[in-house]
Formats: sequence, structure tokens, C-alpha cells
Amino acid sequence: MYLNLRERRQLNRLLTPYAESPETAPMKEYTQHGAVSTFDHCRRVTERSYWLSRRLGWKVDDSALVTGAFLHDFYLYDWHDPRPGGKLHGFTHPAAACENARRCFHIGKKEQDIIRSHMWPLTLFHAPNSREALLVSLADKWCSLEETLLQRYPRHT
Ligand SMILES: [Fe+2]
Ligand SMILES: [Fe+2]
Repeated sequence: MYLNLRERRQLNRLLTPYAESPETAPMKEYTQHGAVSTFDHCRRVTERSYWLSRRLGWKVDDSALVTGAFLHDFYLYDWHDPRPGGKLHGFTHPAAACENARRCFHIGKKEQDIIRSHMWPLTLFHAPNSREALLVSLADKWCSLEETLLQRYPRHT
């Protein structure tokens, strides 16, 4: 599951403004699954989404894909803490992440939709309505399964 040099360069060019932003740095402090921070989970989901788009040969908006994928869990709290999202975290965090992404990065409608729909079908009324949203939703489930059940953390780059 590796990206070639050209793919890696393009992904890094699109990802760096978000990954090196002080706004996303707090995600490094929050645990997502097991030994994986929210930041690393978001980076893995971004790489997996991008890799999937290339290997499936789908024509996608790379910028929207990378932005939506990296910010899909930009909710900025530790979901293991019983307070912020509580038991409803699974249902509520896409909206929280979307609001933070709008506030910090002024993301567009397509990117917002990617974030809002990544938990579908849990969030019944926010289904993926673009290839990019479908890829991120799929990559998120795939990566989450690896991180929780298999405890595998492969990187693509
Ligand atoms: Fe999520
Ligand atoms: Fe996620």
C-alpha cells in the first residue's frame, strides 16, 4: 500500500498546510484508538483515502479529498473524556469537527460534506454524496478497524 514518489509529493504538498498548522497540533495530544493519536489517525485516513483514489483509478478533487480527510476528526477533545461528546460522541463529533474546520480554515461546501458524512451510516441523515466523501468514510472505517482490533498502524509514505 505504498504511494509512488510523484503521488507522495503531491499528497505532502496538499497536506502540509494543515499538518503543520498550529491549529491542528492539539490533535497530537488526544488519543484516537489504542496507541494512535487523533493527529496520526487523521494522517493515516488521509493517506489511505488518497491511496484508494489512485488504486481505484477514480477521478477526484484531490484538494477537497485531502482537506476533508485530514480534518474529518478535527473536533479537538479527547473522546475518552466522559464530558465533551459523552456517549453521543459517535453522532456529534462530525458536526464539531466541521465547525472547527470552517472556523480555522474556511473550508468549502464539499469539504464540509466530507467531514459531516464520514460516520455514515451512524449519522443517518448525512450520507456521503461525492466520491471524495465515500473514500474518506471507507478509509476511516478501514483505519479504525486496524487501529482497534488489529493494532496495526501501516503508513503509506
Ligand atoms: Fe470520526
Ligand atoms: Fe476517524
